[in-house]
Amino acid sequence: MTPIMEKRAIVFLAIAVSSAFGQSDGKLVEAPRFWNDHDLSDWATPVAGLNVRPGHYSEKQYYAAPVGELVRTYAVYFPGREPVGYLDMLRNAKPEPLITPGARTIADWIKDGKRVFHEMDIPYLRSYDAKLAEILRSADDFKKVGGHPQKDGTVSALRWVPTAKGLALGIQDCATCHSRVLPNGSILDGAPLNDPGDGVFRTFVGHDSASFLEFFSPGETRDMVAWRFWAVPWVPNDINEILKSPPPGFDPRDLGALFSTVGIVPRFNSSPFYPTKIPDLIGVKDRKYIDHTATHLLRGPEDLMRYAALVSCCDTASRTSYYSRWRSTFSRSSRPRIRTSAIPEPRPA
Ligand code: HEC
Repeated sequence: MTPIMEKRAIVFLAIAVSSAFGQSDGKLVEAPRFWNDHDLSDWATPVAGLNVRPGHYSEKQYYAAPVGELVRTYAVYFPGREPVGYLDMLRNAKPEPLITPGARTIADWIKDGKRVFHEMDIPYLRSYDAKLAEILRSADDFKKVGGHPQKDGTVSALRWVPTAKGLALGIQDCATCHSRVLPNGSILDGAPLNDPGDGVFRTFVGHDSASFLEFFSPGETRDMVAWRFWAVPWVPNDINEILKSPPPGFDPRDLGALFSTVGIVPRFNSSPFYPTKIPDLIGVKDRKYIDHTATHLLRGPEDLMRYAALVSCCDTASRTSYYSRWRSTFSRSSRPRIRTSAIPEPRPA
């Protein structure tokens, strides 16, 4: 990792919600070292049916992982709807840190949190495939795979990402699932997804790109990785076993588009057979627990920061730790590949 990348500090979007928790009196606030063993120890609640509290990557493991290349990203417009000069601007754009490190006022944290919510993409799902990018230059070709503009001409879920390796096409992280198109065409942040996206987007979330497989389980097939994503090995006759060698014609991806129109997704830890409802993030500050089955406590903004990191890089460990008996089901790696939070963060007092 280069020194420039080292400086690419990302402090989490959950801070966006911190307006609700914090006071805005102009004081400069440092990001906490939120991934710490003390607060992680009793953060997760015991898993139903097992009565075992999942663990997490330790503070040491998390901070030893390299920071992901989290950079500023730009909207993708439906062909012909982009502002004048947009494509030239993108071609010349250099990678820039998504946000910079350092203390700032609560108002500035909120501003930067919003940026992270909208701009952060998923680094291991970037594509440099010129053919895929080409589809986005022809309205006819893009329409054929379900491409459609929002009212402002942008396309949901896709982002242009200037990276150290050149201009990539990426997918938006939080805002893809946690924003909703209203009947008047405006977009409401925080409410659950209702736009199924398009064929270009689905190519990324298809879980068979080389970088996705490399991130989750190097050397394995897509089917095996899908099974690890959703398996519940302590349930007798786990229905997800079928994913290891699915019958011809069965593709869990087909279900994804259908589900997303009604705000549910087969996210990791759920299943294509039991997809999870995307909760409304509006009002999350008043909840005491996170997720429908209260998988984690919500004690304040730091728990939201932990949750954002958990779902972006570091969930595997919570699954590997159920019991050593099932450790090998979920992952063959015992350390995070990247982390998503800032360096340097102050050590706890
Ligand atoms: C693939 C879709 C998807 C993406 C991307 C996604 N989420 Fe979620 N999010 C979900 C689902 C589904 C749940 C509910 C999980 C459950 O109940 O087990 C959830 C739950 C949450 C919750 C708990 C809310 C509550 O009231 O319980 C928070 C907070 C949250 N997400 C924040 C984020 C943040 C921050 C990001 C970006 C870093 C993000 N999500 C990215 C689908 C997504």
